[in-house]
Amino acid sequence: MTASPLLATTREELAGHLDPARRDGEAVAFVPTMGALHDGHARLMQVARERSTGPVVVSIFVNPLQFGVGEDLDRYPRPLEEDLKVCEREGVDIVFLPGVDEVYPGGDPQVTVEPGPLGTVLEGAVRPGHFRGVLTVVAKLFGLVRPGIAVFGQKDYQQLVLVRRMVRDLCLDVEVVGAETQREPDGLALSSRNSYLDAAQRRQATVLSRGLLAARDAAGRGPEAALEAARTELGRTSGVELDYLVVTDPELGELPPDPPAGTAGRILVAGRVGSTRLIDNLPLTFGPGPLAESH
Ligand code: PAF
Repeated sequence: MTASPLLATTREELAGHLDPARRDGEAVAFVPTMGALHDGHARLMQVARERSTGPVVVSIFVNPLQFGVGEDLDRYPRPLEEDLKVCEREGVDIVFLPGVDEVYPGGDPQVTVEPGPLGTVLEGAVRPGHFRGVLTVVAKLFGLVRPGIAVFGQKDYQQLVLVRRMVRDLCLDVEVVGAETQREPDGLALSSRNSYLDAAQRRQATVLSRGLLAARDAAGRGPEAALEAARTELGRTSGVELDYLVVTDPELGELPPDPPAGTAGRILVAGRVGSTRLIDNLPLTFGPGPLAESH
């Protein structure tokens, strides 16, 4: 039987729960989430547990600062009881459940984290201000939890790259770990937003991962061939309106024109199925060298 995690809704309660670990010099492993927890989040908690002997802390906070006007802040799922069961099942030690006033006392913060140019492309172009909101809350949560490691999902790949960049540029003392995307048996990347899809949309949405897999299979012939293969596959299904489909280097920068064999890259896709926006990505390896990684 697993013990229930300790709950904290205030900074003081969180600090109190973390006190013993801090006194013993144990590194805290942290998984920030917005709740609506699924097996992808469970995997993040497992990675946190595998990587640390100290306590695992999960935060559940739907961060208003990262939602734009007209986005799904109000209807974002908040199934707290189920979420707590997931945390208990995964042996999480502390769940931090702050309210908006606890994270942003005095309203919107005056000082925020500016993501720079990488925050204005891809997701940032479609969702202006989104990454300022993400990095600001992640920086605040890092300040409150003071983790030794923090685990983020690779599904939100641009977020992962930007968090790593923030940690590097602001000299934050935390190791950022990217955990592999978890998928349904038909390939659809697990996401809290999948719950918005009806049965037909759910079927249509699988084209996103099929497009990425087609790209991965074609990557041996170079980035253009990979992109073309994904485009062709995505063109086979109606009902998905693409926001972007790009091939980049692993840091989301431009690839050299003719990348040598073995060069690593990434393919990223975003699209709307009905009113639901979904994103996905995969690592690629170019050239006639080794085929793409299998995760
Ligand atoms: O990936 C998420 O769920 C959120 O963007 C995060 C990192 C918890 C910040 O609110």
